[in-house]
Amino acid sequence: MAQTWTKTDWRNKPRIQMPDYTDAAKLAAAEAQLAKYPPLVFAGEARTLKKQLGDVAQGKGFLLQGGDCAESFSDFSADGIRDTFKVMLQMAMVLTYGAKVPVVKIGRMAGQFAKPRSADTETKDGVELPSYRGDIINELDFTPEARIPDPAKMLQAYTQAAATLNLLRAFSKGGYADIHQVHAWTLGFTEGDKAAKYRDMANRIQDALDFMASAGLTSDNNAELASVDFYTSHEALLLEYEEALTRVDSTSGKWLAGSGHMIWIGDRTRQPDGAHVEFCKGVLNPIGLKCGPTMTSGHLKSLMATLNPDNEPGRLTLINRFGAGSVGEHLPRLVKAVQEEGANVVWTCDPMHGNTIKSSSGYKTRPFDSVLREVQEFFAVHKAEGTIAGGVHFEMTGADVTECTGGVRAVTDEDLSDRYHTACDPRLNASQSLELAFLVAEELSQRAETKRAAV
Ligand code: PEP
Ligand code: CO
Repeated sequence: MAQTWTKTDWRNKPRIQMPDYTDAAKLAAAEAQLAKYPPLVFAGEARTLKKQLGDVAQGKGFLLQGGDCAESFSDFSADGIRDTFKVMLQMAMVLTYGAKVPVVKIGRMAGQFAKPRSADTETKDGVELPSYRGDIINELDFTPEARIPDPAKMLQAYTQAAATLNLLRAFSKGGYADIHQVHAWTLGFTEGDKAAKYRDMANRIQDALDFMASAGLTSDNNAELASVDFYTSHEALLLEYEEALTRVDSTSGKWLAGSGHMIWIGDRTRQPDGAHVEFCKGVLNPIGLKCGPTMTSGHLKSLMATLNPDNEPGRLTLINRFGAGSVGEHLPRLVKAVQEEGANVVWTCDPMHGNTIKSSSGYKTRPFDSVLREVQEFFAVHKAEGTIAGGVHFEMTGADVTECTGGVRAVTDEDLSDRYHTACDPRLNASQSLELAFLVAEELSQRAETKRAAV
């Protein structure tokens, strides 16, 4: 079946959460332009990532996926990219130390522009307008003109994604990602009384680095310590954009979604017979699948058969997002479905999308404690089931925003208005992200201990 798939097949399937462009000629022109532009990623990279995710599925790696809920045109800056990249490297270092396995790093970056919405329209002061759907589609301003979907925005999104990826590639390989530098940043975070509980782990990481250096392993003589692999990902929601960047890989003759290394299917667009599943099934990239509370074992079995018919390791990542307090109710049936099929999957936890609440000050927020609790429940269920908790997926930024409440440098309900910048959902700030990494690393180190004791 895969041989007969083409990148336009999704057009014959029911589509939801996509804009109705009114200007067909403008849409066709934007698609034609995009189809001529170079792909952003290459098949060999997607294959390497798939292989690394195959290791994660077996517990030989851990996945860290994170970045903006929605990238924005107006907040686009080199500093913003640098800061998110930097905090993800710090998190990865702490997680590597805890898990004692390599951490696969994937940004929600360089393409994370299109947003599914729970309502098609938004009403303010009695005025009803179409919802904002991400900068690749329309604009956040609450005016009728701003909310008209504009196909030319796909070209701007492509340009921003290309520039973002270019900088990420430079940071990854150009010396910025040096392990000693990353650790020096992290030590800064553990200063002061409140972060004292993290200082011990940071000091142990320092000891490990000192030991390596005295054994002759430094970034001067070891490229592995001076550079990182960093991948990009986004929700494959706007299928006109995805199709235009999809190309045949000359080495294998297979189709590659050239828009990012990994793409995922959102919880609202995972209908087994829908357009989004149809598109994703035909490309060779690693695919993520959001699994929320309404995912039944029947849906999951059908989706696994469609998206990964050959049971290829690393192809499918199940991104669980049930909400704190609900993991025990929903995850076991999905684990059972995977076991019954003998399916090869990566299990990862998105503790963001099931934990959004409205604060007393009126902002959409997520309490740090709920985020942490969902991750802990995710680990506990996998431990009980004997399966592998493979990773975490965060909406986060390297900037010092006040969007989620809690953490050691506590953000309160009253603080939310100070620096609430997200174009969509509330993100963990740099300090909250790193703190979570320390707490997840503690969970992981217990697991690593158990494994070592069993050897
Ligand atoms: C997202 O990850 O930004 C998102 C919308 O998630 P979900 O599809 O899980 O709601
Ligand atoms: Co979101």
